[in-house]
Amino acid sequence: MTADWHAIETLDPPRLEALFANDPDRLARFSIDVAGLHFDWSKTHLTADAVAAFEGLAKAQGFAAKREALFAGEPVNATEGRAAEHSAERGEGSEEAVARAAQLHARMRALIDAIEAGALGPVRNILHIGIGGSALGPDLLIDALGRDDARYDVAIVSNIDGCALEAAFAQFEPDATLVVVASKTFTTTETLLNATSALQWLREGGVDDPYGRVIALTAAPDKAVEWGVDETRVLPFAESVGGRYSLWSSIGFPAALALGWDAFEELLDGAGEMDRHFRLAAAHENAPMLAAFGDLFYTQVKGAETRAVFAYDERLRLLPSYLQQLEMESNGKAAGLDGKPVGRHTAPITWGGVGTDAQHAVFQLLHQGTHLVPVEFVAVTEPGDALDEEHHRQLLLNCFAQGAALMKGRANDADPARAYPGDRPSATILIESLDAHSLGALIAFYEQRVFVSAALLGINPFDQFGVELGKEMAKAAGAGGLDFDPSTTDLIKRALG
Ligand code: F6P
Repeated sequence: MTADWHAIETLDPPRLEALFANDPDRLARFSIDVAGLHFDWSKTHLTADAVAAFEGLAKAQGFAAKREALFAGEPVNATEGRAAEHSAERGEGSEEAVARAAQLHARMRALIDAIEAGALGPVRNILHIGIGGSALGPDLLIDALGRDDARYDVAIVSNIDGCALEAAFAQFEPDATLVVVASKTFTTTETLLNATSALQWLREGGVDDPYGRVIALTAAPDKAVEWGVDETRVLPFAESVGGRYSLWSSIGFPAALALGWDAFEELLDGAGEMDRHFRLAAAHENAPMLAAFGDLFYTQVKGAETRAVFAYDERLRLLPSYLQQLEMESNGKAAGLDGKPVGRHTAPITWGGVGTDAQHAVFQLLHQGTHLVPVEFVAVTEPGDALDEEHHRQLLLNCFAQGAALMKGRANDADPARAYPGDRPSATILIESLDAHSLGALIAFYEQRVFVSAALLGINPFDQFGVELGKEMAKAAGAGGLDFDPSTTDLIKRALG
């Protein structure tokens, strides 16, 4: 253990309530406001000493230089020898990367204008086909922002299970549907099979030129053209934009089409504002850094193996699944950038749900279970519904009361089953109003927070080799070219003959 980690691993803060009692400035010290978002990390066990210890670690790890390397477009994705330039999509990056992103955005906008002008015939529905980072981002954006005034009906299909595609077909008329095929590599089995079946559906639905209704979003434009999409309807994005960081690029196309170009630009602006904050604010006032310090405190000092995010807003119900890919695919690693085992826990298991539903399902464990689960609440001040204001009032009161209850607990020596230990940490993000700008800032906050953890742990958040082995084995099984273990062989035989 290095001296810098030692300073962290020996931190031993008192109970949360004592932290508040001992420091009248605690709330202000651990609250940050940026881009219409209020971050309250005061109900975590972070202390001024802890923050100083993490600042020491950040210095020892050359964090400031790593952050500048990220924005400068240096090959921070060392295992794949490339940059990670998602921030350039929102205007923060090398001049060259920002200019290239702007040019590709202009191309995307021109195609949207052409569709709106009827160049591709009547379009009422968008069938978006993609998986992982090529689906989760657009899905989150459209579900969060397009509930009242989306300009098209959008179905997002990711699973190779034909039930998913059939459900989408049942909603739409082929001659009014635009099929959007999103795949960074344009080699993903699920996406290509679903796209092929969608072409078939168009054909059987009387569309004479099915390929003429297809738009491709990809970093491998040649492959999309080879597959059959006309070059004019291929919207490329840079290879240096990772799949789970790609909603800012042409992968955001269905969202830009459904929500309007202005909204898409607002999204980029919000993210850009968060990037600038991340780049410039001192560590103790820097929301992504403070949040990452909290994450590392719980995984490294308290042995937490998980963290939970609860969206107290129906519009953000897809946020936990979006974050699962972002956090676990990025930082679920065991090898360090130096090629050696990291030797400590990396990404905690991210899970979560929607409040208040989750209160009636999983909160029992949070309040009385034996696992330490740092909890994060995400709530919105301005209601998304037009019903009696009591709905939103109750929603928010529940959210805030849960954080208070987790911290305070309630002793009951006479009846342990009814005792609440308390001292359970939570953080709260309160969004003033949920719009494209604040959502962009929120997502960028999570991206940069992942980067901070990775930088301090010495891992690469931008590769994902862990997903390859299973894919390869499925392919080999399909080709009959692999001797599986007895259990797997038996399962294949039973189910597939
Ligand atoms: O299997 C993991 C993954 O490579 C993700 O990283 C990616 O977001 C997803 O598959 C989809 O990949 P593609 O966009 O290349 O189809």
